[in-house]
Amino acid sequence: MKTRIFADKNMKIGKVNDLLFGSFIEHLGRAVYTGIYEPGHPEADKKGFRKDVIELIKELKVSIVRYPGGNFLSGYNWKDGIGPREKRPTRLDLAWQTIEDNQFGTDEFMAWCRTAAIEPMLGVNLGTGSPKEAGNMIEYCNFPGKTYYSDLRKKNGNLKPYGVKYWCLGNEMDGPWQICHLDAEDYGKKALETAKIMRWIDPDIKLIACGSSGAEMPTYPEWDRIVLEHLYDHVDYISMHRYYWQEEDLNDFFASYKDMDDFIQTIKATCDYVKAKKRSRKIMKISFDEWNVWYQNKQTPAGWVKAPHILEDIYSLKDALVFSGMLNTLINNCDRVEIACLAQLVNVIAPIFTEKGGRVIRQSTFFPFAEASNHGRGYALRTITETPTFSSKFGEVNWVSDSIVYNEEKEEISAFLVNYGSESVDLQLELRSFGKLELIEHKTMNNEDLEAKNSFENPNRITLKPGAPVEINEATLKTTLEPRSYHVIRCKYQS
Ligand code: AHR
Repeated sequence: MKTRIFADKNMKIGKVNDLLFGSFIEHLGRAVYTGIYEPGHPEADKKGFRKDVIELIKELKVSIVRYPGGNFLSGYNWKDGIGPREKRPTRLDLAWQTIEDNQFGTDEFMAWCRTAAIEPMLGVNLGTGSPKEAGNMIEYCNFPGKTYYSDLRKKNGNLKPYGVKYWCLGNEMDGPWQICHLDAEDYGKKALETAKIMRWIDPDIKLIACGSSGAEMPTYPEWDRIVLEHLYDHVDYISMHRYYWQEEDLNDFFASYKDMDDFIQTIKATCDYVKAKKRSRKIMKISFDEWNVWYQNKQTPAGWVKAPHILEDIYSLKDALVFSGMLNTLINNCDRVEIACLAQLVNVIAPIFTEKGGRVIRQSTFFPFAEASNHGRGYALRTITETPTFSSKFGEVNWVSDSIVYNEEKEEISAFLVNYGSESVDLQLELRSFGKLELIEHKTMNNEDLEAKNSFENPNRITLKPGAPVEINEATLKTTLEPRSYHVIRCKYQS
């Protein structure tokens, strides 16, 4: 199969925001407890943060982490998670039907973010929570002092305000599964009053409104239109969430990246419709703050216990190929999608997987995320891709998914490619106006067994290895993409 991809330095989509490489930690399963936080673990620091996990998070170069949920957020009282640990209440978490003893809360999360060099993104509860409580929380986090909640933060040992910039106004409020779910009108009104209170306390914050929690929702995209009509002038982002899993047809699963793109185009159009209706000049940005492959059918209620083994998907090569296409879609929409959070980061549908008291491994999805996050910062280029297509439930889809980013400071260009086909691809990559290119590396991820996965016994079964030789003639590269494989090709250019 022949594929030609053209890109020109002058044809920029936009600058990839660092926040595109964010992730998510929820009080869910073992994401917090025995994930990022495990006092007594041989690798835990004085605060109980697992250093082995932080090391891998640094390899992923995660920029921002959303916390504390997720569905958990809609029943969470943030005050349960502050102050002396022995006095914190143990609660029923209705979202995941588990026990939450609140040994990790906002102050621990902020300390963990500092240790892991991560920007925090907090959420306020708009399910059981009120606008007033959201105001109290931002006063606790961001107000300098001499008020009840800011002094409470100081009393809890945190003298300086945290200055948390990114705030989610609830989570998936369009979902009937949400604790105290609202319809679009009611959410729009509640979120508006919350936004006003929060901004009065800290005018520098960035606010994220709940958009549709998936393109399959019956309220999509009306939800987004109504919510934005209430909130357009008061928020900076609308959120999007999307998970994919294989049902019957493998090609439908491979086509996920195209469907994710269609979803983004619709939300962009909905934002622009409201912009026009409001005669506004502001361009609404997107926070794609939950995305991943997630086999939702494997979700098992675990009973009323703390930190059960739930949502612990083990990812295969096939899942990583779908995941890599989704990453390409995010990069190719970087002019509107400024923030993206891989859901989630540790143990729960995550690239990092731990044993309680023991080891940690990288899942198959770890590698494409690390490559994009380390080498996909710079300007994304519009590509013209000539490749055969396949039919799917999402329409006609290219067998080869691509994104190309160049970094001016490093004088590097990186191409991220997935061949979903069962045939090899003869690739010709024409990177116009880059002059003479010099190969840095060509890495690939493939395996004869699409179901191959990493495990504690075999932690490197799926990993990156050198790709086929690359022939370079000035700015034209030729190489082979093996069947069902992921690739990153990096070159040095001279400006
Ligand atoms: O990430 C898992 C769950 O998926 C989150 O709690 C929720 O927001 C979404 O439905």
